[in-house]
Amino acid sequence: MRVLITGGAGFLGTALANRLAAEGHAVHVLDDLSSGDAAGLAAGLQFTRGDVRDVPRLWTLMAGVDLLYHLAAKVSVSESILYPVDYNAVNTGGTVAVMSAARDAGLRRVVFVSSGTVYGQPEDLPVPETARARPLNPYAVSKLAAEHYVRAIGDQVRIETVILRVFNAFGPGQGLLPAHPPVVPHFLRQVRGGGSVVLHGSPPGAQTRDFIYVDDVVDALLRAGSMGGISGNTFNIGSGRATPILDLVKAVERAVGRSAIVLQSPEQSGGVSRLCGDIRAAERMLGWKPRFSLDEGLRRMLPGLKA
Ligand SMILES: NC(=O)c1ccc[n+]([C@@H]2O[C@H](COP(=O)([O-])OP(=O)(O)OC[C@H]3O[C@@H](n4cnc5c(N)ncnc54)[C@H](O)[C@@H]3O)[C@@H](O)[C@H]2O)c1
Repeated sequence: MRVLITGGAGFLGTALANRLAAEGHAVHVLDDLSSGDAAGLAAGLQFTRGDVRDVPRLWTLMAGVDLLYHLAAKVSVSESILYPVDYNAVNTGGTVAVMSAARDAGLRRVVFVSSGTVYGQPEDLPVPETARARPLNPYAVSKLAAEHYVRAIGDQVRIETVILRVFNAFGPGQGLLPAHPPVVPHFLRQVRGGGSVVLHGSPPGAQTRDFIYVDDVVDALLRAGSMGGISGNTFNIGSGRATPILDLVKAVERAVGRSAIVLQSPEQSGGVSRLCGDIRAAERMLGWKPRFSLDEGLRRMLPGLKA
């Protein structure tokens, strides 16, 4: 199968591209390298450096392609609060460009990687896909708007669409750029190096997140790209467990074999206090189940973690 992956030089995209290539698919990656690094891509993969909003280039890249995974995005919640115009332009505008080119190219299926942040702060946890989405920051708004474009354009022209709302993915290759490091590689680096970690809120570290290991996300992406009878569906992809940030610190301490220096700070704006996805739809319809625990995933991250 010929597969195009936008954002394929990023954390999740690289893992997906390399797995698809290892399974014998012809994979082409489009990425502007604003936060990705093409050095992680396996030999033999095709790579084009470019902006996902460049529709004529997308037309060229989509010729003969069966399946598109759309991952290109700006991904920092805190940065999105500072630069909402950029987040709207790349995440929402980029998705409109991708879907409009996919329409012209007559693609069979688009898999869009959305985010568990679209729910905002759900009343009931774990949150099912049917819950009302009330995004609380520009990043989450841009992903929800993009979901609507994927469905609206896909449905009009009969492109199959599958949306995965990924929760807090973590694993090797994450957090290459130091400016806005995701929490897991940041905590691992800090504790390993004898630095401090900051817990927000009151009581500190009580917020929960749903951590899902990168290989589990890739398993779900492969199923979303290949299974019949799932077009039009949206799936939560998480562990189904709510992990308090304080428990993440303890898991990091176990993985590193060193105690953390813990500092406290007020609540962060734009964040949610508790989040965890109901993953029963993915289990039922994709036949998917997470395989890796938080402890196992952290152990696998350590050897490749750069200082
Ligand atoms: N990592 C997570 O926990 C998580 C959770 C939910 C959703 N997601 C989604 O998964 C996707 C991948 O996220 P990630 O964690 O791998 O982040 P990442 O930053 O590593 O990957 C995003 C990639 O998109 C590229 N990109 C950004 N703007 C671009 C543009 N204008 N044109 C072309 N390429 C561009 C970047 O260079 C990068 O390689 C994103 O859509 C993100 O919203 C990630």
